[in-house]
Amino acid sequence: MKNVLILGAGSGIGKALLDSLSKKKDTFVLGVSRSGEEYAGELQSGKNYRKDITLDYTFDFLKSLKSLDAVYITLGNGLFKPFEKITKEEWEAHLLLNLTAPFLALQNLIPYLKQSPSPFVCFLSSTAGKQGFPESSAYCASKHGIAGLAKALREEWKPKVRVFTVYPGAISTPIWEGRDGFSPEDMIRPEDFAKYLEGFLDLDPRINIEESIVLPPKGIL
Ligand SMILES: NC(=O)c1ccc[n+]([C@@H]2O[C@H](COP(=O)([O-])OP(=O)(O)OC[C@H]3O[C@@H](n4cnc5c(N)ncnc54)[C@H](OP(=O)(O)O)[C@@H]3O)[C@@H](O)[C@H]2O)c1
Repeated sequence: MKNVLILGAGSGIGKALLDSLSKKKDTFVLGVSRSGEEYAGELQSGKNYRKDITLDYTFDFLKSLKSLDAVYITLGNGLFKPFEKITKEEWEAHLLLNLTAPFLALQNLIPYLKQSPSPFVCFLSSTAGKQGFPESSAYCASKHGIAGLAKALREEWKPKVRVFTVYPGAISTPIWEGRDGFSPEDMIRPEDFAKYLEGFLDLDPRINIEESIVLPPKGIL
């Protein structure tokens, strides 16, 4: 049995991954996010439990699980507006969610990862973690930042913990809501992207796909 935790399983990519993994044999999968249900004393595979990771990044409720074989970090939001219109509060809240919260959460998850024979952590950066886009300065900063954190951890934790970073292009999730000029038809469906992420669980532990860029056929939209 492989134990998997998804940070940010309330919607979009994380929810699609939780739904898909809950059907996979030999996998015990849990999610956490703000819209999850209250933990009631017994962990159930396939459930998304309530946690705002910007406020509480402890994981005592996982104690009965003892070990984690995989952690997928699929939480985050977008902040798309002209540079001069971003307030200090917006900038700080964005970096807190996209960068600081994964950092703090992972520090508390190390004891669980250490108990697994071949653990991995999967980070989601973005094409905005590889290059710049207009009206995306905060998002590009957080996505370059998370990629940098992942690169450092890969070196610090090798060979015991593998660290995968995926740089996705457009995936049709709520993160695109309110942005004009982009068609969901041109994007990857979250359930298809979830299947890609799920494949990491079946890799031989001697394979480390350090970085992958996953784009729809139209490329960067
Ligand atoms: N969609 C794309 O095209 C795309 C491309 C590249 C990278 N990404 C990255 O993929 C990640 C997921 O985005 P998505 O596209 O799936 O968008 P989404 O549907 O908006 O997903 C955001 C996820 O983060 C969770 N979340 C937000 N605030 C949280 C908090 N304070 N504590 C815990 N969980 C929280 C949400 O659940 P709750 O609302 O229940 O809290 C939800 O599960 C993001 O990091 C994004 O940058 C997306």
